Amino acid sequence: MCGIVACILNDKEAAPVLLGCVRRLEYRGYDSVGIATSSSEIKIKKDKGKIGEVQKMLDLTDLPGKMGIAHVRWATHGLPTKENAHPHTDCKKRIAVVHNGIIENYRELKDELQEEGHDFKSETDTEVIPHLIERYMDNGADLEEATRLATEDIKGSYAIAVMSMDEPDKIIGVRKESPLIVGTGDGEYFIASDAPAILQHTNRVIYLNDNEMVILNRNGITVKDMDGVVIEKEIDTIDWTPDMAEKGGYDHFMLKEIHEEPDAVKKTIMEVSDIKKVVEKFPKFNRICFVACGTSYHASMIGKYLFEGIVGIPTDVILASEFEFSAGALDEKTLVIFISQSGETADTLKALRTANEKAETLAIVNVLGSTATREADHVLYTRAGPEIGVAATKTYVSQLTCIYLLAICMGQNEKLLEEIHKIPEYMKNALEKEDQIKDIAKKYKDAKDFFFIGRGFSYPTAMEGALKLKEITYIHGEGYAAGELKHGPLALIEDNVPVVAVVPPGESHDRTLGNVQEVKARGASVIALGSCNDAVLRSESNDIIEFEDEIRDLWSPLPYVVPLQLLSYYMSVERGIDPDKPKNLAKCVTVE
Ligand code: F6R
Repeated sequence: MCGIVACILNDKEAAPVLLGCVRRLEYRGYDSVGIATSSSEIKIKKDKGKIGEVQKMLDLTDLPGKMGIAHVRWATHGLPTKENAHPHTDCKKRIAVVHNGIIENYRELKDELQEEGHDFKSETDTEVIPHLIERYMDNGADLEEATRLATEDIKGSYAIAVMSMDEPDKIIGVRKESPLIVGTGDGEYFIASDAPAILQHTNRVIYLNDNEMVILNRNGITVKDMDGVVIEKEIDTIDWTPDMAEKGGYDHFMLKEIHEEPDAVKKTIMEVSDIKKVVEKFPKFNRICFVACGTSYHASMIGKYLFEGIVGIPTDVILASEFEFSAGALDEKTLVIFISQSGETADTLKALRTANEKAETLAIVNVLGSTATREADHVLYTRAGPEIGVAATKTYVSQLTCIYLLAICMGQNEKLLEEIHKIPEYMKNALEKEDQIKDIAKKYKDAKDFFFIGRGFSYPTAMEGALKLKEITYIHGEGYAAGELKHGPLALIEDNVPVVAVVPPGESHDRTLGNVQEVKARGASVIALGSCNDAVLRSESNDIIEFEDEIRDLWSPLPYVVPLQLLSYYMSVERGIDPDKPKNLAKCVTVE
């Protein structure tokens, strides 16, 4: 959702540093942006719009002072407007706050504060926080105590950074159910929603847990629990480098991240010994249950086919937001696997907390130290590096790789363990289709509807192709199990409707080919993905993207998704959309 950052610096002005940091958080929200710095008074600049636009309008970098807080917003309460942009302040403008999360009881609190005479400027839930802190400071509490008392009043999720003119040289951060990390540099201290925001300045971080408070001042940092008791925290060194969060010469992060896929898969394969260690700890399970949202859900769907096929354990796949309605049958013989790029998705975390009470849990996550990694019984990391583009690409293929390896290790299938090493090369070859895909994108950029079909392992690939298309081109796309077409959607097929058919060689090939012929006979334009030896598929297709014949259906989800991601990317660019920042979407969905 939103992204927050705060810093206390030694010898540099804070505003330019904060601007650089929030630029790296822009994938978390791009409705509005704001910075507050503190010198002799609190100065704020903020407005609606993407960071680049607001920076052009206001020049956020000339705010004075060596400490400050900043925010990028993805609107939840109140439209994206200047007034609703963070930071928010108290009546006297002596306290400034940035917040990521949702205050559920803000209406009651706002009524109460307004009755006490507090004057509100915005429609946001966040604005109650500086007013609550003001109330307690007016009653004699110091900033730390007032912040603690304010968090006792609010219900909901929050990661906040607070500063006050009454206690200059101090920034307070608190987290509850929204991510917050602390960075410690050379006499410089940071708080941020995630690590890529501050990697330019330090790779030494402390992961805060829920209900922990950090106090930053010029002499260092102190972490306390909500009773004010000091907690000793470990400082972790993260191995992500700042250039991993840069575009590296590509026009967009998404394109760079698609090109990083072979490497992300290779690095995840190198984790196999960690996977084996986790598997050794497992008791005998009689049921597997995958839980995830969006793209991670599609990776989980492939997990079902793999676990049932390779391990022979009945496997369910449940959307995290629906999990509470089917959690009844969980027991200690069930392994619930949570798939999440961010490890912070609210729906997924809620489901994880429910599952933790009854079953064994495993989280497969990309972001180091994220909440899911600290709450699940077991953790496996995907090694994709930071993903900045809102659409999941390299993290999807890394999730798939991890799921394949897990199924292979649990099923002790040495042959497949050997075969997986060939996948990065197949993916590199898939990337070589880029020019052909650019041409296909140009041809179909004005289509109103798209269908994606596939069977078995290719069904989730079709679903993922459709999701990518919707997200970043705003074209309506439907992913269907090819066999379902004749049960309804076939009525929508007419002249020139593009149908993307995922038809790798394998068990289901002939039946999907039959479905291709059905849509072709009704006038569809077929864009096929299949083997280079598949003459019949070629003859039925308007366009065909070809792969090595030896890539059978079981392995096809990894290389075959690459052209689908590229197709959406180039269609998005053709349509003048920024694929890294699709409208209404944010990278990390920390609200239910
Ligand atoms: C789509 C996309 C989303 C996420 C979903 C879950 O490209 O990125 O559908 O997959 O919001 O997010 P994570 O994996 O972080 O839990």
